[in-house]
Amino acid sequence: MSRIIIFTGKGGVGKTSIAAAHAVKAAKEGFKTLIVSTDMAHNLSDIFEKEIKEEPIEIFNNLHALEIDPNHEMERHYGEIAKAFKNMIPKNNEEDAEIFEDIVVFPGIEELFSLIKIKDLYDENIYDLIIVDCAPTGETLSLLKFPELFSWYIEKLFPVGKVAMKVLRPISKVAFKIEMPNDKALNDIEKLYVRLNELQNLLKNREICSIRLVTILEKMVIEESKRNYMYLNLYNFNVDGLYINRIIPEGIDNSFFNEWKVNQNRYLEELEAVFVNIPTYKIKWYEVDINGIGGLERVVCDSLKDKELFKVLKNTQNEIFEKIDDRYRLEVYIPFANKTDFDLFESGTDIIIKIGNFKRNIPIPNTIRNRSIVSAKLENEKLSIIFE
Ligand SMILES: Nc1ncnc2c1ncn2[C@@H]1O[C@H](COP(=O)(O)OP(=O)(O)O)[C@@H](O)[C@H]1O
Ligand SMILES: [Mg+2]
Repeated sequence: MSRIIIFTGKGGVGKTSIAAAHAVKAAKEGFKTLIVSTDMAHNLSDIFEKEIKEEPIEIFNNLHALEIDPNHEMERHYGEIAKAFKNMIPKNNEEDAEIFEDIVVFPGIEELFSLIKIKDLYDENIYDLIIVDCAPTGETLSLLKFPELFSWYIEKLFPVGKVAMKVLRPISKVAFKIEMPNDKALNDIEKLYVRLNELQNLLKNREICSIRLVTILEKMVIEESKRNYMYLNLYNFNVDGLYINRIIPEGIDNSFFNEWKVNQNRYLEELEAVFVNIPTYKIKWYEVDINGIGGLERVVCDSLKDKELFKVLKNTQNEIFEKIDDRYRLEVYIPFANKTDFDLFESGTDIIIKIGNFKRNIPIPNTIRNRSIVSAKLENEKLSIIFE
């Protein structure tokens, strides 16, 4: 079974370099490897010193690279649908129009179509390993929650999948005056819906897909990595590696860097204390940019010797449903969330957990749909919800 490893982190922390170093190592070890960039600011071409385009090209034996053009992918899968959506927008009521506008043009929606492309590549079954160099964190997050969000909208709006009957109710309830899309568009929407569900299943399949965080030892970046880790867990993705980049090497000794080293050591301790559950890899700050295969091999040799590197490095479950006597318990692993941070709602079919701006819907199994929540507490990074 092939694997997908997705690298994410703030802009400039070294995602592309570290992803590319993994790709080089994997290919040299004999894995048929594809490295894909979905970041619009592509730079695989610079790193490999070769022009990389929309179809995979060979870098060397076993290694192919590809830069996805998200806009192109979006037009291919979504052009017609977006038009249909746009036609639905009521022309006389500005408020309704705004709601629909939001549905059609989510920020970052292009990235979603990059992921669909990655799923297609996975399905072709050519590669043992697909390494994804993702856009900076914010975008990745909205991207990863997007399939869930988007399916939710589609389910509520259109007669697709299992909810065929309920469709028009939410619409008629708010008395939208809208034009339903024609059959062709509905058909496309249904197809997209199915693909998004498949995409979600693929990305959340813990045996196939790992997400790895890249960070550096700076306060803001660390805080972001922690948040990112929490949200990824909230959405039930398997984060199984942390890469700490740009660590000032031991041998450096001058007053300017000594100050920085003290800071870095403090942050390093903090990071290692909070990310105890997942393997961490340290990458030193090199005296030059990491460029070309030679540069990448240096990183591999110094920091990525781990023989298990491409395996699933951690596999704990984020969500557990269990029956205790005549009660049911839902446990959700949410690292770094404060007690005051989260809100909990029930919506009939779903439990909705809200942390900051992020909202996660966890569908409730049929058996406990009619039971109400008797308690919810956050302890040891686990949210435990009891149903009567
Ligand atoms: N450990 C490091 N030492 C020296 N230069 C680095 C290191 N990590 C990254 N770089 C350089 O920093 C720049 C940004 O790295 P890149 O991998 O493109 O970051 P991202 O993809 O996260 O934006 C590149 O020029 C890269 O060569
Ligand atoms: Mg990059």
